[in-house]
Amino acid sequence: MSKPLRLGLAGLGTVGMGVVAIIRKQAELLEARTGRTISISAVSARDRGKDRGVSLSSYAWEDDPVALARRDDVDIFVELVGGDEGPAKQAVEAALAASKHVVTANKALLAMHGQALAEAAESMGLQLRFEAAVAGGIPVIKTLSEGLAANEITRVTGVMNGTCNYILTRMEAEGLGYNALFDEADKLGYLEADPNLDVGGIDAAHKLALLSSIAFGTQVDFAGIEIEGIKFITLEDIHAAADMGYKIKLLGVAQMTGRGLEQRMQPCLVPETSPLGQLSGGTNMIVLEGDAVGQIVLRGAGAGAGPTASAVMADVCDIARGHQVFVFGKPAKTLREAIPALSLRAAPYYLRMALKDKPGALAKVASVLGDAGVSIDRMRQYGHEDDHAPVLIVTHKTTRADLDHALEAMGHTGVVSGTPVALRIEEV
Ligand code: NAP
Ligand code: HSE
Repeated sequence: MSKPLRLGLAGLGTVGMGVVAIIRKQAELLEARTGRTISISAVSARDRGKDRGVSLSSYAWEDDPVALARRDDVDIFVELVGGDEGPAKQAVEAALAASKHVVTANKALLAMHGQALAEAAESMGLQLRFEAAVAGGIPVIKTLSEGLAANEITRVTGVMNGTCNYILTRMEAEGLGYNALFDEADKLGYLEADPNLDVGGIDAAHKLALLSSIAFGTQVDFAGIEIEGIKFITLEDIHAAADMGYKIKLLGVAQMTGRGLEQRMQPCLVPETSPLGQLSGGTNMIVLEGDAVGQIVLRGAGAGAGPTASAVMADVCDIARGHQVFVFGKPAKTLREAIPALSLRAAPYYLRMALKDKPGALAKVASVLGDAGVSIDRMRQYGHEDDHAPVLIVTHKTTRADLDHALEAMGHTGVVSGTPVALRIEEV
């Protein structure tokens, strides 16, 4: 039997306590599968006195995660604090400088500093693993960087934020408002410390940036992602989409084009009968397309204590077995700088607008769309509310540029109130 593997665990919240639970419950299984005893030497969190439901007195305590990262009795530093700066970053850097392997669930940190951290880890011959950072319990990092290593990846698509999927599906099923669902998602342990990262699409974009790097051999380029969150989606949109056979999902798409790397994270309509349309609650789905393998679909719990801790422990087990991989699938120094490219691919769009109750109003909108080269596929007008009528339009395939021209012109017609909502329809 090889020597025991000792963890330093920073962060004892949803994920951290999930890791403690697995290590306690599955000690024998982990040893049988890795050939090593896996134990926790020391832990760190903000509040030592907090009741965490189980006694942690058998572990040494450090107030400062940086001190934990440097301890002699720590072989792997497990960072489950969160945040792209501050203690998480300082402690991960300290761990690498002290020759410790690092396992983290922190997508924000890697989306912002992944390249520098990967170079630091690889220059020291250390493992920096982040399976839990993308899509919770789904082993998508391993699938992409190892299982599909022989493929040129052509496209990555997916729903990768559990909170947003939970809110969108519960809004439709229960007719519940945003705030009630926020509280429910919080109780399930889905929310980021700053929930604006979830509903603003930023958390999902952090994840997409990491997947793109592995898929396309480019440096992590979070800044190059077009991001739109779900905050402006109303119950009306959800019901209107359902009426027309669609579901609204916060969808990420990344693909390499001749012009550069296209990455977008935005609410889209998907057919309700499609695998993505069927996703409910905190479930995530990632669709990977490779030249040799074709399409792979991964589906599972994208957030919460058990699923995320499962992914953390998968990384720990790999390190215990001595399995080595490059952080982003290729040596970090060989990753190319990404050139961001906007999507030029035409797609149908869903439009919602409030039309003033005036003669010829609908004709004006149709004419503006026609002038911009945007053709109408379907249209619905609902009953008047005060002096406005909600109008929904599904267009034939059009480019975003043509649609933007039409939306701009609509603002000058004098018959549309406010800004129309425009959501892309994706057939994945
Ligand atoms: P959490 O429940 O808020 O827990 C964060 C932990 O970090 C807490 O134990 C907190 O201490 C500790 N902490 C915060 N600031 C600290 C500081 N300055 N010094 C020391 N400890 C500090 O967060 P979580 O949901 O477990 O998420 C942890 C990480 O996993 C984040 O990067 C998150 O993005 C990622 N992640 C989460 C999920 C999920 O489903 N929750 C899924 C995938 C990835 P106290 O407990 O004393 O306050
Ligand atoms: N807040 C994240 C989500 C946690 O809702 O998906 C998992 O990364």
